[in-house]
Amino acid sequence: MAFGKLMPRYRLRPGKPSDAQGLFAVHDRAVRELARGVYSDSQVESWVQGNSPERYVAAMREDGELFLVAVARLRGIVGFCAYKGEEVRSLYIDPDWSRLGVGTSLLQRAEAAIAGAGHAKVVIGASLVGLPFYESRGYRVIRHRHWRSRGGLMIPAADMEKPLQEASLCDQARQTG
Ligand SMILES: CC(C)(COP(=O)(O)OP(=O)(O)OC[C@H]1O[C@@H](n2cnc3c(N)ncnc32)[C@H](O)[C@@H]1OP(=O)(O)O)[C@@H](O)C(=O)NCCC(=O)NCCS
Repeated sequence: MAFGKLMPRYRLRPGKPSDAQGLFAVHDRAVRELARGVYSDSQVESWVQGNSPERYVAAMREDGELFLVAVARLRGIVGFCAYKGEEVRSLYIDPDWSRLGVGTSLLQRAEAAIAGAGHAKVVIGASLVGLPFYESRGYRVIRHRHWRSRGGLMIPAADMEKPLQEASLCDQARQTG
């Protein structure tokens, strides 16, 4: 984040099924606005197609994904991150709140939880929209591949990973006993 940028206030908390509508709204806006120009209009449409608030409820209740949400007082949910095991499964920031450090805060909190669960690395299937962000956060591309979006179109993406610092794993071990 650029020095001197105003930092609007938000807080991080665990996500819950009643957040589903807010998660859906952020996801939809983030893809439609931030992916435009990186992907074609038809790829963007295929990415958002068929998404629904119920998908987040199922991800939490049936698939065991853990959610972290960033909440601003007057705006509600402005970003979220979902993870399971060593994998960060999604990270979406409301376009009005992008480049303000919200994505970094959510990712750092998810990385700390993944390290705390004893994993040695974090893996991510990243869109080309997220790739420069993840590179700036210490991730490297393992391989480029295509991912079948919900609407059926194949979309270029990349598998990325980042080893978790031995030091932070030791810190976690000390803290947990
Ligand atoms: C990618 C995304 C999560 C980044 O969230 P964010 O809150 O805007 O990121 P931050 O403000 O923490 O950015 C930190 C740094 O990452 C880098 N970065 C972030 N977005 C970038 C972009 N579009 N292009 C290049 N670098 C970028 C910059 O170095 C930035 O620091 P700076 O703003 O001081 O230059 C957000 O843009 C998003 O939701 N994108 C659409 C959905 C998506 O592709 N998600 C990825 C998962 S598949």
